[in-house]
Amino acid sequence: MTDDDIYTDALHAGQQPDPATGSRAPPIYQTTSYVFDDDEHAAELFALEDEPMAYAAAYTGKNIYSRIMNPTTMMLENRLAKLEGGIGSITTASGMSSLDLATFLLAEAGDNIVTASALYGGTYTYFTHTADRRGIEARFVDTLDYEAYEEAIDEDTAYVHAETIGNPALVTPDLDRLGEIADDHDVPLFIDNTFATPYLCNPFEYGANLIWHSTTKWIHGSGSTVGGALVDGGNFDWADSDYPEIGEDNPAYHGINFAERFGEAAFTFAARARGLRDLGNQQSPFDGWVTMQKLESLPMRMQRHCDNAMAVAEYLEDHPEVAWINYPGLESHETHDNATEYLDNGYGGMITFGLENGYEGGRQICREVELASLLANVGDAKTLIIHPASTTHQQLTEEEQVASGTTPDMVRLSVGLEATEDIVADLDQAIESAT
Ligand SMILES: Cc1ncc(COP(=O)(O)O)c(C=O)c1O
Repeated sequence: MTDDDIYTDALHAGQQPDPATGSRAPPIYQTTSYVFDDDEHAAELFALEDEPMAYAAAYTGKNIYSRIMNPTTMMLENRLAKLEGGIGSITTASGMSSLDLATFLLAEAGDNIVTASALYGGTYTYFTHTADRRGIEARFVDTLDYEAYEEAIDEDTAYVHAETIGNPALVTPDLDRLGEIADDHDVPLFIDNTFATPYLCNPFEYGANLIWHSTTKWIHGSGSTVGGALVDGGNFDWADSDYPEIGEDNPAYHGINFAERFGEAAFTFAARARGLRDLGNQQSPFDGWVTMQKLESLPMRMQRHCDNAMAVAEYLEDHPEVAWINYPGLESHETHDNATEYLDNGYGGMITFGLENGYEGGRQICREVELASLLANVGDAKTLIIHPASTTHQQLTEEEQVASGTTPDMVRLSVGLEATEDIVADLDQAIESAT
């Protein structure tokens, strides 16, 4: 997607004036259910014959029940699909529920997931404990060791997973290479694009097949609403691969074969008809509506996050009490070249760094900041700070912390939209007090 396309699509894609009222802003369809034309139409919708879950269903009067689809959340879904260059999307109650829904569809007991190890701590725990309880093995590989991915994949691999900008080490893998590896083994590449957002990266361009987002972060951007989304690239051959929920006659939906019936949109339809329907992890119409309002300004906000983060990173890089700094925009960053290749417009809003006085310094700076808020979130309009080792990553063993990219001294900063000099001044006084 070119820069200019995203400015228009963030405002227009997936939504038109409401056909019933002319409302220009998207209405909140706060309803559980929808009146059918007649009994025959009702039967057709349930049999998926009149395509109730199709891309444009938001306006077609083909809705059934809001656990499966809702016109307000569908507008957001259609917009996200367009921004990512996908063919369909579903929104969920949180980012984690998007991960869970995709895993439910793609993996069963005995399968494995091959994943980059630089991951959000919650994803790490989901793989090691939640997927594991269901008999699904997570195989963690060094995010940048491409041979390790090759070696870990076998005939039971359900998907290959990585983050565009891995949380919290901020490493960007060679996405093209991951796309080729997954494709060679006929498994989908599933990318968490939360830290990049569609403004910085469209992973489908590099071979990803499915994308997930925590819309809680920059897509919403004001820290008020938890949500998630799955986006379908429509570029994986489910019919010829071993994904019984999608590519075989599905007994849970009176024998429908989603791949035969819906072709490239098979995953999106299965995600609604099997995932949302049975797991009930849909996003609420109000949350979808708020997120859509905020998405309109994503390009402008994201650009400022990137510009502010670059300025803060340069300040920290020159500070004598800062022992090390990770920002993908700095030439010193391990994956600066990959980030330059795969990210457009900037390098994101996240920075990690350590102070010369290590673990204690990391905890102390969080106590000393006045403008930045100490909390467990990222991607807010306001600057946020946390010390992962004593908070978000506390439940991981030291070995797991290191594998996931956390170090005892690491401070994680989500750079907000405030005046650049105010963010720098706050850090300056906090570092001085903490050291
Ligand atoms: C990169 C990343 N992915 C996924 C999630 C999970 O999203 P949510 O909190 O919306 O469930 C988070 C949460 O912090 C995250 O940072």
